[in-house]
Amino acid sequence: MSTSKTHRIAVIGGDGIGPEVIAEALKAVRASGVSIETADFDLGGARYLRDGEVLSDATLDQLRGFDAILLGAVGTPAVPPGVIERGLLLKMRFELDLYVNQRPFAGTAPGHSTAHDFVVIRENTEGPYVGEGGVLRRGTPNEVATQGSVNTRMGVERCVRYAFELASRRERKHVTLVHKTNVLTFAGDLWQRTFDLVAAEYPAVSTAYNHVDAACIYFVQDPHRYDVIVTDNLFGDILTDLGGAVSGGIGLASSANLNPARTGPSMFEPVHGSAPDIVGTGKANPTAAVLSAALMLDFLGESSGADRLRAACAEPTSGSTSDIGNAIAARVAGK
Ligand code: IPM
Ligand code: MN
Repeated sequence: MSTSKTHRIAVIGGDGIGPEVIAEALKAVRASGVSIETADFDLGGARYLRDGEVLSDATLDQLRGFDAILLGAVGTPAVPPGVIERGLLLKMRFELDLYVNQRPFAGTAPGHSTAHDFVVIRENTEGPYVGEGGVLRRGTPNEVATQGSVNTRMGVERCVRYAFELASRRERKHVTLVHKTNVLTFAGDLWQRTFDLVAAEYPAVSTAYNHVDAACIYFVQDPHRYDVIVTDNLFGDILTDLGGAVSGGIGLASSANLNPARTGPSMFEPVHGSAPDIVGTGKANPTAAVLSAALMLDFLGESSGADRLRAACAEPTSGSTSDIGNAIAARVAGK
């Protein structure tokens, strides 16, 4: 069953393989019978090189009017690092207040025989990502660079609360805080106290704490211990690449940048990048984009469509980008 609503989706195919995988994701969504209306936004490194626009405030205001944003990948080698990342991706996360980055990982890790199923909830608007700091005497022997981590009680609490809400709806009802409280004693203390206070409101949810370095070992050696993980922006960035690597590869890793308060659209994107080396070869796996579209359908209240997308991705498929996309869409339509 799908809702009768037509969802308005802003589509940012972006650079490299982004447009290729997003085309397949849209095929799968259309095959599900969920009604969508799309508008393409030409943004990313190629657009920047053409006319200098990264993400203007006027474009951002247009995006605010949509129900969701589906993004492929942005970035080209010709653009210096940081320009597109900070100016487009992070600007959307901050300005649209996409404070939760939800990244699900289901799969069988190398050397294991049973599947794990956990979700990382990464804080998405604070930490070292805010760009606090600066540089003095750049390029001289006396150069000084600082890069702070901003953690607010409000920002930490809303993210931790989201993790507990999610865990309370899952079978295992377990949340692990991942941080580095033994070294980052100021931020770690705020995270730990906030986590403990919120945990007290969820007596049915059990909890654990891991230092981030230990969590890296457990992701590989004992991923079954995890259900929901909540962590800060940078730890979450690093851990979720590892999560992808132990869950079938980055070609399957999906993500949802959520504004749970729904004061604007949320943004859905595969974890992988624009892979300029394989653009146009048909080698890009569109599964991560399809699974990101499934997260979008979940958030739009189209959970049965989302489940059908996920079921269609569960069967392995080989072939080119469009072979895989067509096979997934056929399964979605047939189910
Ligand atoms: C991710 C990416 C981004 C991040 C980059 C491209 C800014 O690595 O979504 O994980 O660091 O958050
Ligand atoms: Mn990353």
